[in-house]
Amino acid sequence: MKRVCLLGASGSVGDSTLKVLRLYKDEFYLHSFSVHNNLEKAKQIIQEFSPKNLVVSSKAVETRTLGDNFQGCNIFYGEEYLEDISASSEVDIVITAIVGSIGVFPTLAAIRANKKICIANKETLVTFGPYIKNLLKTHPATLIPIDSEHNAIFQLLESKPKSSVQAIILTASGGPFRDRNINTLKDVTIEEALQHPTWKMGPKITIDSAGLVNKSLEVLEAHYLFDFSFEQIEVVIHPQSIVHGIAEFVDGSCTMYASHPDMMFPIAHALKYPHYPTKNIVMRKVHSYQTLNFYEPEPKRYPALQLAYECGKRGGTAPAIFNAANEQAVELFLQKKISFIDIPKKIDEALQKLPIQEPTELLGYLEADSLARKLVKGEIEC
Ligand SMILES: NC(=O)c1ccc[n+]([C@@H]2O[C@H](COP(=O)([O-])OP(=O)(O)OC[C@H]3O[C@@H](n4cnc5c(N)ncnc54)[C@H](OP(=O)(O)O)[C@@H]3O)[C@@H](O)[C@H]2O)c1
Repeated sequence: MKRVCLLGASGSVGDSTLKVLRLYKDEFYLHSFSVHNNLEKAKQIIQEFSPKNLVVSSKAVETRTLGDNFQGCNIFYGEEYLEDISASSEVDIVITAIVGSIGVFPTLAAIRANKKICIANKETLVTFGPYIKNLLKTHPATLIPIDSEHNAIFQLLESKPKSSVQAIILTASGGPFRDRNINTLKDVTIEEALQHPTWKMGPKITIDSAGLVNKSLEVLEAHYLFDFSFEQIEVVIHPQSIVHGIAEFVDGSCTMYASHPDMMFPIAHALKYPHYPTKNIVMRKVHSYQTLNFYEPEPKRYPALQLAYECGKRGGTAPAIFNAANEQAVELFLQKKISFIDIPKKIDEALQKLPIQEPTELLGYLEADSLARKLVKGEIEC
């Protein structure tokens, strides 16, 4: 039995992971997990999976109501314990499904402990990409992406020489506003932005997807994961969300990875890697897909995408600023303090105003992250 630590078990990726663990219950044991606030979900997980440890990462007083032990599961309160469960010698695989760059500390702890890490938490890779890449040079941890597009590319590139690859292509559904009149995007409501046409996900990534900010983060994520230049990383709108990634080869051919849009596919692949999934998730015959469309994203509809390419090329702390400004702007949008089209404007403003550094220490990235949040909140002026 492989022992699994699942960070962010109460979220959407957390839920899909639990489904995979149910499917493979003879191969994987949920040893430890975390929730931030959701104690009801935590209780259900303990009752079903009998894990050894739970971390409740929120500091809110009411989260302590579960006590120190619930049905044999030890409970630790505070985000500092996330690092302990992800680096524990009793754990073989860490799944990072926490939302936001706050996921960096347990991710770094898992890398330093040389774990196999199945990474969903893209904000951490985007913010701390150069630092993480450096750390991986001296630690033989394995990083397997479970973002569906990156997992697809990971599978498509396996055993292919890099020199044979012309480009990697990430698909995007285009979100709920891909056909909406651009002039009305300023009036988008929270409810409208939370209606993703093909995927069921947590609120932050759903808002990100509506304006292709999610895809923008994924371009940066792909750069750090696969080491391709930004000229070699492309995005296409594919409304059906059946093809998740495409590898284009120098000879002009390409291969595509397709599946029903369900996060269980990449999660099962990542958990089982280097072996292959052996159990059925959803079986769809190819003829049932009928039509698959691919077209280029309109720059005016999705301004964040261009910003991501620009800041990716600038490197250093620019992606960290992009990510933090976006996290803060999405929060303001959800609080009805800014409009939907203000989100990329806030990212742009932060990138224009804040200094871009090339730090060698983690602190430099954390400072950039913190400054961008403060700028977007209006707590500082530059
Ligand atoms: N959803 C998808 O299909 C999908 C696909 C690819 C990649 N991803 C990436 O996976 C990550 C998770 O996405 P999601 O959609 O699963 O998000 P989600 O549904 O909002 O779940 C977020 C999880 O993180 C926990 N959390 C929230 N704030 C936290 C904090 N400050 N410290 C520690 N834990 C915190 C939540 O706990 P509580 O519930 O207790 O608050 C929950 O367990 C994101 O980075 C996202 O970009 C998601």
